[in-house]
Amino acid sequence: MPDNSSYLVVPSAALWLFVLVIVGISCVALAVVLSRARRARNMKLARLEAGSVRSPLPEFEKNGQSAAAALVQWSPETLRHILAKELPDAQVIVVSNREPYIHNRNGDGIQLVVPASGLVSALEPITRACAGTWIAYGGGSADALVVDENDRVEVPPENPSYTLRRVWLSEEEQQGYYLGFANEGLWPLCHIAFTRPIFRASDWEAYEAVNRKFADTVVAEARNERPIVLVQDYHFALLPRMIRERLPEAIIITFWHIPWPNSEVFSICPWREKILEGLLGSSIVGFHTQFHCNNFIDSVDRFLESRIEREDSAISYGGQISLVHAYPISIEWEPARQAQLPDVAQCRRHVREKFGLADDVRLCVGVERLDYTKGILDRFTALDELLRLHPEWIGKVAFLQIAAPSRGTLPAYQQLHEECLRQAEDLNRRYGRDGYTPVLMVTEHHSQEQVYEIYRAADVCLVTSLHDGMNLVAKEFVAARNDEQGVLLLSMFAGASKELLEALIVNPYDATMMGDALLQALTMSSEEQRQRMQRMREVVRDNNVYRWAGSMLLDAARLRKRVAVDRAVGAAPTSSGNVISLLDRRRVAAL
Ligand code: G6P
Repeated sequence: MPDNSSYLVVPSAALWLFVLVIVGISCVALAVVLSRARRARNMKLARLEAGSVRSPLPEFEKNGQSAAAALVQWSPETLRHILAKELPDAQVIVVSNREPYIHNRNGDGIQLVVPASGLVSALEPITRACAGTWIAYGGGSADALVVDENDRVEVPPENPSYTLRRVWLSEEEQQGYYLGFANEGLWPLCHIAFTRPIFRASDWEAYEAVNRKFADTVVAEARNERPIVLVQDYHFALLPRMIRERLPEAIIITFWHIPWPNSEVFSICPWREKILEGLLGSSIVGFHTQFHCNNFIDSVDRFLESRIEREDSAISYGGQISLVHAYPISIEWEPARQAQLPDVAQCRRHVREKFGLADDVRLCVGVERLDYTKGILDRFTALDELLRLHPEWIGKVAFLQIAAPSRGTLPAYQQLHEECLRQAEDLNRRYGRDGYTPVLMVTEHHSQEQVYEIYRAADVCLVTSLHDGMNLVAKEFVAARNDEQGVLLLSMFAGASKELLEALIVNPYDATMMGDALLQALTMSSEEQRQRMQRMREVVRDNNVYRWAGSMLLDAARLRKRVAVDRAVGAAPTSSGNVISLLDRRRVAAL
């Protein structure tokens, strides 16, 4: 028998040698990787120390989403504290199209209306806390009667705490800028609702002219060269740059309350470059979600010659830096209206009496402006699905849709209104009977108190937007339910679905899913409702609107301090007075 041992020894020695070489190479590679990682970490720390503007305070990292931030009790006092400590003597100016209080003629008297607008619900408590100036279009029929000689009126009327400065617009301006460019152009462009945007050159001219008019008003209202201007929404894409040209030292925080489309969709807009340039006059451009920030940055990348630091969400354009950050908007906690309301049992009784609902009928509600982005028709389909597949619910569930009339002269809105009425009638004809009307469609404005009463009376609240920046109805419903009961059905295409994870999250385009979710909501145990509602209430309480505004103001304060440091060390300010050295400094630190 041949001795094979020598044959075995030779390959084994070679193998050992081979293994040793591989281990040696791996060690060297690992050492290189570790040293690079350490270097990268050190560079990152150096960059942060050298002036990153991402985290104003450690606990506010990532837009205040960290655990430590949740420990901060965000309130009007927190905001006032931030202003006093971080931005002493800063004058806060809010600019929006919609005013927080509308004075309308009513017979011989004047009626005060608070408009149905998420923007107004969010900004009003902030402006109150900051004792600022709010500039808005004076659209009420009696608005001109109550202002002073400078077109100002102190509000809220019952307890004045800030100044409302009204801007007057002609019919033509309103038609071109608001109904035309903003609502027939930008609104459908930014929402995925498959309504074709309409762009007209005459609307664009009106939009530019009205933005200019508001810029003049901001300059007139500014008490010094360095106000903090909070520009609101898609009505004012050109305003930030117009203000920047006249008040180079201003901190301009622009918040875009609706989604930002992907760059391919955005390219539809004939004035896309002008819109981006206008917005990049801002110190900070805010969106509700990181996804919309990314879309905006991609649009800038595609259409403007700019420098983009994706890691820091910073864009340098024309010698000026704009930060692009996500700040999820919210509502005040506790809502001021809540305290004036009766308890849940009384609200339920009152709403049921008012709408003629029998005691054993479960109440589902929808509350919003009458808008094709809200998925109102899809709720009707869901109800149809439920009653068709589960006829035992006929006579046991009613759907109350409160729809505030909105942009009613535009064809897309008129069509929606007609279609809603037609479908509601159809459902009532098919499933209704004496004393039972499955769909109640109420197309009229409701006050905040009335809306909160309806939230409290509801068993289920449907927020089924086809697309929505945030949607504050979802948060208001949760805030209204201090009895920890009620179920929220929430569209996966509303920004709120990223925060209110205990809602029943639905795809409004999927009728089967919507019908199933409605059934799940109607049959959910009280204990499950409580557990879900408790958690959602914690989220809305901790991420309230003071935190939204506070995070932006802290970022603004950080920017302002950085400019001061730049000046002190002799870094040349740009022609716009802004902070060009930030990106460069970081770049140097990274080398
Ligand atoms: C909704 C949007 C806001 C927008 C408002 C305008 O609330 O979320 O971003 O500003 O509609 O509504 P209006 O009635 O003023 O056209």
